[in-house]
Amino acid sequence: MDKKEQLLKNIKDNIKEYCDTYFDFSFKSDKPTVHLHEPTFGSDEIFAAVDTMLSTYVTMGKKVKAFEKQYATYNHTKYGVMSNSGSSANLLAVAALANPVTPNYLKPGDEVLVPALSWSTTVWPLIQYNLIPVFVDCDLDSLNMDLNKLEQAITPKTRAIKLVHVYGNPCLMHDIMALAKKHNLFVIEDCCEAMGSQYDGKPVGSFGDVGNFSFFFSHHITTLEGGITVTNNFELTETLRILRAHGWSREADEHQKYVEKYPHIDPRFIFINLGYNLRPTEVQAAMGEKQLPKLDALIDNRRKAASYFLSRLAKYQDFFRFQKETPKGKNVWFGFSFILKPEAPFTVKEITAFIQRHGIETRPIIAGNMARHPALEMYKHRNADELLNADTVMNSGFALPCHHDVSESSCEYIVHVIDLFMNEKIKGQKTTKAATA
Ligand SMILES: Cc1ncc(COP(=O)(O)O)c(C=O)c1O
Repeated sequence: MDKKEQLLKNIKDNIKEYCDTYFDFSFKSDKPTVHLHEPTFGSDEIFAAVDTMLSTYVTMGKKVKAFEKQYATYNHTKYGVMSNSGSSANLLAVAALANPVTPNYLKPGDEVLVPALSWSTTVWPLIQYNLIPVFVDCDLDSLNMDLNKLEQAITPKTRAIKLVHVYGNPCLMHDIMALAKKHNLFVIEDCCEAMGSQYDGKPVGSFGDVGNFSFFFSHHITTLEGGITVTNNFELTETLRILRAHGWSREADEHQKYVEKYPHIDPRFIFINLGYNLRPTEVQAAMGEKQLPKLDALIDNRRKAASYFLSRLAKYQDFFRFQKETPKGKNVWFGFSFILKPEAPFTVKEITAFIQRHGIETRPIIAGNMARHPALEMYKHRNADELLNADTVMNSGFALPCHHDVSESSCEYIVHVIDLFMNEKIKGQKTTKAATA
């Protein structure tokens, strides 16, 4: 072993020893806390990141390309274009579909159906491209767009559906793709909360024209920040690659074609389209390469925790709705959501304050109804209907931790705290019809 190899081995051993000693996020009954997220990465990923930095090859290059292939293969798609966030993946997808090089591209004023229960950067790229977001209400069981309302919202101006697999629960993709085919609509899947989720055995993100994923810290796996856009369309992939990096041809597979066409321009700087700089780093890709093989096991724990909550909290079904897994779907439980029914003799504020006082973090379900956020007052959009269910989620919903590191003892503690609250609130009342039957 030469000196360099020895030094690297020492670094690796030290990182491992550090993580083995201090990376302990397990539940402590003497000081009970359950965070909404815990790191999915450990010594493997930290060493891969440091090793990449030490190599000095840090900006987008071979590792990003290799990770794009690895992710696309995992997701049953031909191509992946990595970027610096899930929001950037969403932006690139819209930018590519609204670019004049794309056949039948989206034009200013075209309408795009989007769930009211979504995230800001699901919607913003539509506005940024002068498209009109048309908000569609959700279904209170799956929390995804209501299929009937989606169909009713289609008008001659509708050109695309930009859906969200809410909290990791897959949309009814066969029905949505049939609708899209019938009306000749693009389908953009915002899968930023749904990595590893499947519908009818097929990964989300592989149904529509493009699928977008996030590798943000709190997601199923992480590259710290990061995202990827997947597609089966080669031309669209080339456009995504060009728009991601300045608009130059360098990152396109067919770069040589442009070099031959424009021999008088330096081949390193041929700008053939508009563009951003949304590139990821080699450090992020090196982490992703280590994270991806762990994804399915991390998801298994989320599913285990969710089924524990569902069975232990079923006795409170007169007061709460819980997200229902889509039939034929694999929900990857980005969180565990509660929606208070009108019968509940308490408010969301009361229950979340109680839970938080006991060391358990809570949050709203995504951001509630996007159509109600102040930013929308400034921009043209349309609500397909009254959006009452999305309002219910916004006003009466909250989510609890349901991640890869939620253990049996943290699950038991969470249920115990909810029992304490409910005993207090429904003293003397029947818990459920089932419990008294
Ligand atoms: C539905 C949805 N879309 C997009 C994003 C944005 O992802 P990022 O934080 O990686 O930009 C999120 C973030 O959680 C999200 O929930």
